[in-house]
Amino acid sequence: MGRCPACQAWNTFKEAPSLPRDTKKVLLKESLHTSKPQSLNEENSEDQIQRLLTGLKDFNLVLGGGLVRGSVVLLAGEPGIGKSTLALQAMLHENVSRSLYISGEESGAQIRQRARRLGLPLESGYVLTDASLENISAALEELKPDLAVVDSVQTLFYPAIEAPPGSLVQIRECTARLIQWARHTGIPMVLIGHVNKEGDIAGPKILEHMVDVVLQFEGDRYHHYRMLRAPKNRYGNTQELGIFEMTAKGLREVRDPSGLFISGHAEGASGSALAVVSEGSRALLVEVQALVTQAVYGMPQRICAGFDSRRFNMLMAVVEKRCGFRLNQKDIYLNVTGGIRIEDPGADLAVIAAVVSSLLDVPLRPSLALAGEVGLTGEVRPVHRLEQRLSEIQRLGISTLALSDAHSREALPTDLKTVFLPSVRDILPRLFEKAYHPTADPKTL
Ligand code: TYD
Ligand code: MG
Repeated sequence: MGRCPACQAWNTFKEAPSLPRDTKKVLLKESLHTSKPQSLNEENSEDQIQRLLTGLKDFNLVLGGGLVRGSVVLLAGEPGIGKSTLALQAMLHENVSRSLYISGEESGAQIRQRARRLGLPLESGYVLTDASLENISAALEELKPDLAVVDSVQTLFYPAIEAPPGSLVQIRECTARLIQWARHTGIPMVLIGHVNKEGDIAGPKILEHMVDVVLQFEGDRYHHYRMLRAPKNRYGNTQELGIFEMTAKGLREVRDPSGLFISGHAEGASGSALAVVSEGSRALLVEVQALVTQAVYGMPQRICAGFDSRRFNMLMAVVEKRCGFRLNQKDIYLNVTGGIRIEDPGADLAVIAAVVSSLLDVPLRPSLALAGEVGLTGEVRPVHRLEQRLSEIQRLGISTLALSDAHSREALPTDLKTVFLPSVRDILPRLFEKAYHPTADPKTL
């Protein structure tokens, strides 16, 4: 059907043929193994979580400290972002005594060549170029690796199911079987899944609830930086952020991400603000840039990169209402430099400060970092993990921090200048210091 009779949207139907009878029976039988309720109080040998440390530190970090035995990880990302490279670098390492790379996309020669070029240890790695689940199971049975990578779930197929590879039924059934198999043998698996341009894991979206961990590998096409996050993790927190750089020698972990993100920061330029954000176990200093111009077309533009656009619109409404600026005739562009995407609402204050600075065309105070969440009434809220942020800005030699007045003065180091902001209204008199004298009523701007 071309058009949905319910919501009137075009081309939204997906084919999902029902399973043939016999496969249903097989699936049912397999799930009927004997199981009894167990007391929560009872100690069990399965309670010990064993983790395998792979070859990439940030990969282990985002997983929550390594790959858990018997767990299944979905590694999702757009084509060409570096998923295959990441998986290969993770599995080929001295900690992993035997690993198997199952590829339905590239040839064995391509994979060998890449591994060699990256200078990875090859002795412990095996490759299987097959996509049929039966052959894969047989190979896994025979080799009994410590870790298996499947590249990609979209190529898998199970011949008993009459649906083409890449169809929802195939993807779901093959994954269900691999999960069963991983649980049964205790061998962890990394399943690679392609994401389409709209950002949802087409096909693999349905896998999110089945797998233990969903890893999102993302980055900007124009930058070499790649971010790894875990939107779902049954064995760790979901706030961790891994940062890599794609080089000619594969992915490299970035040791000093703040240094990289703010390296081009132009001190004294209007529309630029430094945000100190907390992502998982680390704090980062990032540059937020804004450009506010007179709208030429009827509808003013709100374009933002690296920050949630709905939150951005909300913040702009707060600026308009609480600071009295008229933004309805302005185009506003916002960009977090370096291609990083920020999720911490502690960046709100920097976003607003950058916009106000561009609107006035006056730079913010020199050597200033900002950290604060902004609420609908314009109040600046305290941020979590302040200590971590403080040590990051001190490490980078920033002299002034602007933050909510709800933080106690005692928690702040004496050698750091601080600007307490109860509300976004205080940005104008306090963040522009000498450079800006608000002679005019801001309403006239
Ligand atoms: P790849 O891992 O194949 O991406 P995916 O599996 O997500 O589709 O890597 C994609 C890109 O990374 C490729 O276009 C080239 C680049 N790349 C490098 O820049 N350096 C390298 O060492 C490798 C292996 C790849
Ligand atoms: Mg690939």
